Amino acid sequence: MTEPCRISVLLSGGGTNLQALIDQVHLQPGGGVIVSAISNREAFGLTRAERAGIATATVEPTAAEARQNYDLRLQQVVKESTPDLVVLAGFMRILSPTFLAGFEGRVLNIHPSLLPEYKGLHTHQRVIDAGETWHGTSVHFVSKELDGGPLIAQARLRVTPGTGAEALSDEVQLLEHILYPRIVRWFCCGRLYCEGGRVTLDGQPLEKGICYDAEELRQDAETNQPAG
Ligand code: GRF
Repeated sequence: MTEPCRISVLLSGGGTNLQALIDQVHLQPGGGVIVSAISNREAFGLTRAERAGIATATVEPTAAEARQNYDLRLQQVVKESTPDLVVLAGFMRILSPTFLAGFEGRVLNIHPSLLPEYKGLHTHQRVIDAGETWHGTSVHFVSKELDGGPLIAQARLRVTPGTGAEALSDEVQLLEHILYPRIVRWFCCGRLYCEGGRVTLDGQPLEKGICYDAEELRQDAETNQPAG
């Protein structure tokens, strides 16, 4: 029997995406196993990991520490759990090429916007301020460019006029909790690859990410369709 894919999750906050990964990947047969949850600061996400019996670590930057130095220390800690896949789930630091060098084509990120639109922070408020009709979330492989690596999939929803940033964030997060475990399972099952910046899914090049409508994703989740 082949060994399950070993996953290390990096986070900085509440860890609702980590929880979705615990419930839908770690605790399910045939997917991957989360071998470590690592934060750069105190975070409720680590408590979630501990409750699930997952090893945790906190790698805090020291005062005025150079990014290069921090990234090497972080890389060392991540490598100790020998992951096949590194999953960024709300990790609030930009990772340099120094960190990524150890894990090329094996780092995923989820970003709360329809990339390439709205890279960076405060995406929900910026989307509202701009009067956008559509918003959503994107899962991509991580490259040297901030929120700029090759796209795998997006989930989009219509912005209801009058919705505040917090409510919009909640709506987007519900989609993330369906989308991210699905993508992680694809990787763990060997369906998803990234080499030299090119993504393949089931042996076919994925030129641009797959776009799901919110309703479609929610229905899949409700009917417990194998999210394969
Ligand atoms: C998510 O909304 C994700 O898109 C962004 O950070 C947030 C993390 O939330 N990268 P949580 O800690 O998983 O609840």
